[in-house]
Amino acid sequence: MTTTSNLLGKPINRVDGRLKVTGEAKYAAEFNVPGLLHGSVVSSAIAKGRIKKIDTREALAIPGVLHIFTHENRPRLAWFDRSYRDEDAPSGSPFRPLYDDKIVYSGQPIALVVAETLEGARYAASLVRVEYDSHSPETDLRARREEAYEPREGKGGYEPPPKPRGHADKALARAAVRVDAEYSSPVEHHNPMEMHATTVIYETDGMLTVYDKTQGVQNSQQYISKVFHLSPEEVRVRSPFVGGAFGSGLRPQYQLFLAVMAARELKRSVRVPLTRQQMFTFGHRPETVQRVALGASSDGTLEAVIHEAISETSRFEDYIEVVVNWSGLLYQSDNVRLNYKLVQLDNYTPIDMRAPGAVLGVYALECAMDELAYKVGIDPLELRLKNYAERDQNQDKPFSSKELRACYRQGAERFGWARRTPAPRSMRDGKQLVGWGMATGIWEAMQQQASAKAVLSIDGKLIVSSATADIGTGTYTVMTQIAADTLGLPVEDVTFKLGDSSLPKAPVEGGSWTVSSVGSAVKAVCEKVRERLFQLARKVRGSPLAKASLDEVSFVEGHIRLTKEPSRAVSLTEAMRHGEVLSIEEETLALPNMPKQSRFTRCTHSAVFAEVKVDEDLGTVKVTRVVSAIAGGRVLNPKTARSQILGGVVWGIGMALEEESAMDQKLGRFMNHNLAEYHVPVNADVQDIDVIFVEEDDSIVNPLGAKGLGEIGIVGVAAAIANAIFHATGRRVRNLPITPDKLL
Ligand code: MOS
Repeated sequence: MTTTSNLLGKPINRVDGRLKVTGEAKYAAEFNVPGLLHGSVVSSAIAKGRIKKIDTREALAIPGVLHIFTHENRPRLAWFDRSYRDEDAPSGSPFRPLYDDKIVYSGQPIALVVAETLEGARYAASLVRVEYDSHSPETDLRARREEAYEPREGKGGYEPPPKPRGHADKALARAAVRVDAEYSSPVEHHNPMEMHATTVIYETDGMLTVYDKTQGVQNSQQYISKVFHLSPEEVRVRSPFVGGAFGSGLRPQYQLFLAVMAARELKRSVRVPLTRQQMFTFGHRPETVQRVALGASSDGTLEAVIHEAISETSRFEDYIEVVVNWSGLLYQSDNVRLNYKLVQLDNYTPIDMRAPGAVLGVYALECAMDELAYKVGIDPLELRLKNYAERDQNQDKPFSSKELRACYRQGAERFGWARRTPAPRSMRDGKQLVGWGMATGIWEAMQQQASAKAVLSIDGKLIVSSATADIGTGTYTVMTQIAADTLGLPVEDVTFKLGDSSLPKAPVEGGSWTVSSVGSAVKAVCEKVRERLFQLARKVRGSPLAKASLDEVSFVEGHIRLTKEPSRAVSLTEAMRHGEVLSIEEETLALPNMPKQSRFTRCTHSAVFAEVKVDEDLGTVKVTRVVSAIAGGRVLNPKTARSQILGGVVWGIGMALEEESAMDQKLGRFMNHNLAEYHVPVNADVQDIDVIFVEEDDSIVNPLGAKGLGEIGIVGVAAAIANAIFHATGRRVRNLPITPDKLL
């Protein structure tokens, strides 16, 4: 089909930008109705044990307090079917709030105070007296590493490490050059600006309209209907705007359960917002301890790759992510052994966080590659090029496309890599040591099935909808662009609706698959509308298109034009009026073409170059420059795409230098559960970031050729920075974050 693409690839502004900056965009905790009640969650002060006594008398005496829910009085209306799993649930049994007196992690919700005002509810919550029977928690991953086991069962899409190929241990022992080191990464917590919250509107007929902070409205709707035995028609979940989530909204969180429970029991509308501290109580990026061993010949040819990772999970679910598989894929090597194990701790189940697994495994691998480059005595970039994988050896498949070489070349050129002097401590800026480091990044390009609906009315306005989310990534904008482009309409005439469970089915927004999945559905449904319009246009009396076929016309500026003779055209409204059609409505399900896709490994790639300046007296590191060159297929909107990568790089700086949820092992509690002590990069930490998108054609991944850019931006950044710190100082710090104390 010949479509002149007017819009795809254009850096159009966010269609929802104005609503956001003017404060008109409403988030889950901002929907109001008269008589709304407010809930405040009481969190467990211990990590393990049971509640001996919970005394709510004092709290109930506070004026305006209506009810306090605990495990003792929780309504019988809730469920608890252990077989139910949400869309992002690992194997095991999901956490059930207020189920019984058992405490399985610190911060566990143990009561919900419901009052006329939020302040009243908060104050009353502070007066709930709890006596515990407390046991010592086991929360130290390193101390328990001997208990590590291989996960029993995967969740959908989880690829366990491939079987060993060749003889990695023997090849390592024989290798002329060896690196064998242990790397670690700490727990990190999602800290989106918007904290989790749910507002449940109790409608007069008992129906529930639920405003939830989520990455998947239908996932939340399913959860509510399964847990409370409601039909999906009785519950509508909406989430028109999400103030960041990064994975924390992939699973229904406990405030959703508590708010719905309270609303149904009290037959009132209820809101339950979580505090910033409570954002540290329902999932995190897991801690890892990783061994990477690389063996190479004296010219740097990789002969052995061993990557073993130990990560944590809770007592009730096996949270798994793909940490080590990348090491069998990113470079050519015939001897590879990969292993991934879990340790159960008295903590909440970890949850996906931007580029789950990859960001951790690739960090360790890419630091080890840098160490190897120094041992061999060649340039780190040259080492990567020497061992470039033309094929995915894990699965013995070709790549659907892989322009990583172009990333290396363009990134290095923009950064000025050729001017680097290889010796550590050889570059200076006055008193400061300067270091240049680089790393590779990789993520998957996935497509899930998704549907979309399109309604074109005779005034030329188009409404397209799908129950997807926009967690700040630009979904509203890019879907609008795809629809407008397919039908040749101005962007202003297209509205895209999302974040409503009553819309056509879509997966949770995650995995970098939204453009690929929902975008394909939007394109497909608009193509159906095109066909209908074209048939109508041909029948217009004296139509210049009467003898044309669909691939001989273009949809531009509200007209269907003969591509070769653009002055001969029929306008969309004319076609509809003539056919006496007031609106055209279509709905479509877009499925990934698995027979075609499964023959290939589909990935995004990146090359990250970082400059640091280190003050040795203070141990401080400034990341003064980052160049990130991305191969992500076709870029539909360079502006929103660049923002995704900028965000990823900023987070990579945080991962390298600042972020760490520090556990008090005695209490089993995260001690820095606030933004004063959980450090994230601020403006002063973020200097020059340069994003390059290299050309990459891919007709395999989906009909749009776009691979998705949500996660790739962060992968490799921490390694590039750690490697730059080595180059600056000659010191290898192998445990993140690289805080000043580690450099003194
Ligand atoms: Mo992302 S961690 O799939 O929201």
